[in-house]
Amino acid sequence: MPTWLITGANGNLGKRLIEVLLEDPATEVKAVVRSERAAATIRDISLDAAAASRLSIQIVDYHDVEALRGAAAGCDRAVHLVGILKETRSATYTDAHEASCEALTRALDGSTVAHLTYMSIVGSTPGEDNACLASKGRAEAICRAGATPCCVLRVPMVLGEGDYASFALGKRARSARSFTFRADSLEQPIYAGDVVRAIKAAGTSCLNTSLDLGGPEVLTRRALTLRAAHVLGMPEPLVISLPISVGMSIAWVMATLLANPPVTPAMLGVLDHDDEIDPQAALDALGIDSLTGLDEMLKAVLA
Ligand SMILES: NC(=O)c1ccc[n+]([C@@H]2O[C@H](COP(=O)([O-])OP(=O)(O)OC[C@H]3O[C@@H](n4cnc5c(N)ncnc54)[C@H](OP(=O)(O)O)[C@@H]3O)[C@@H](O)[C@H]2O)c1
Repeated sequence: MPTWLITGANGNLGKRLIEVLLEDPATEVKAVVRSERAAATIRDISLDAAAASRLSIQIVDYHDVEALRGAAAGCDRAVHLVGILKETRSATYTDAHEASCEALTRALDGSTVAHLTYMSIVGSTPGEDNACLASKGRAEAICRAGATPCCVLRVPMVLGEGDYASFALGKRARSARSFTFRADSLEQPIYAGDVVRAIKAAGTSCLNTSLDLGGPEVLTRRALTLRAAHVLGMPEPLVISLPISVGMSIAWVMATLLANPPVTPAMLGVLDHDDEIDPQAALDALGIDSLTGLDEMLKAVLA
C-alpha cells in the first residue's frame, strides 16, 4: 500500500491532497504539521471511516532532520507544501523555504521515499530581485540537488473553494467599485483541484524535473475581476487601477513599522508578477489531458 508523506499538510492544498489521495483504498497518508492547532484542522476533514483509518497525523518541527526522518520511515512518496507569501520578523523566507527544504532532503536521503514533489511559484529563480521568488528559487535548487528524485511544480495564483484568493476575488467582483494595484498585470489562475491532480501525477510517475503549470487562460487582473462578476451575474464593477509604486511605498512603510504587516513589498511583488506561461509541456509530462476552464473554476470557487 503506497504511503504519501505530506509536510505542510494543513494548508489549502494539503487538505485537498489528503482527500484526493485517500479516495484510493490502496493509499495511506502521513500528514505532517507543526502544531496541535494544525493537526486539529486535519482531523476536521470530512472522511469516511475507511479513509480516516488510512490517515495518520504527526507534529514535527520542519527543521528537525531526525524527526522528519522518523516521519518519513516507511513512506513511498513525499510532498513538501510548506511555504509563505508574507515574511515577518518571526517567520522568514529563509526558515520557511530554504531551511525546511534542506532538513527534508537530508531526512529523505537513504529513506524509503522514492520521490519528492516541491510546490513553488511561477517566476521563482535564485537570482530574482523579489525576496520571496528568490527564496523559493533557492529552495527549489536544494530539493533538486537532494538524493531523492524530485519534481518542482511552479504554479501562479491558485483558486480553490474556501481559500483566501477566491474570497478576495469574489469580494472585488461583488463591489460597485474595486480598487486594485496595476489592473493590467497578467493573471493565469489555476484550479486547486488541477494542482492536486498534478501533484498526484508527479509523485505517481516519479517525475524528476521542474515544471511550470498555469491555468487555461491569461488575462489582466481587471479582466479577471469583470469575468468573475459576469460568472456571479453581478453588474460590472468599476475597476480602478492604482500605481504599483503607491502600493510598494505603503507596503514598505508597513514592513518598516510593524512586526507583522498586512502586506510587504515582496508579497506585493509576487501578486503583481505577470504570469503568462504555456502549460502544455507540464501537462504532457504529467499526463493530464485538460485543465478546468476559467468559467467553471470561477463558478466553483465563487459560489
Ligand atoms: N496557493 C497558492 O496560490 C500558491 C501559488 C503558488 C505556489 N504555492 C505554494 O504551494 C504550497 C502550498 O500552498 P497552500 O496554498 O496550501 O499554502 P497554505 O495554505 O498557506 O499552507 C502553507 C503551509 O506552510 C506552513 N507554514 C507557514 N509558515 C510557515 C513557517 N514560517 N514555517 C514553517 N511552516 C510554515 C503552514 O503551517 P501553519 O498553518 O502551521 O502556519 C501550512 O502548513 C506553498 O509552498 C506555496 O508557496 C501556492
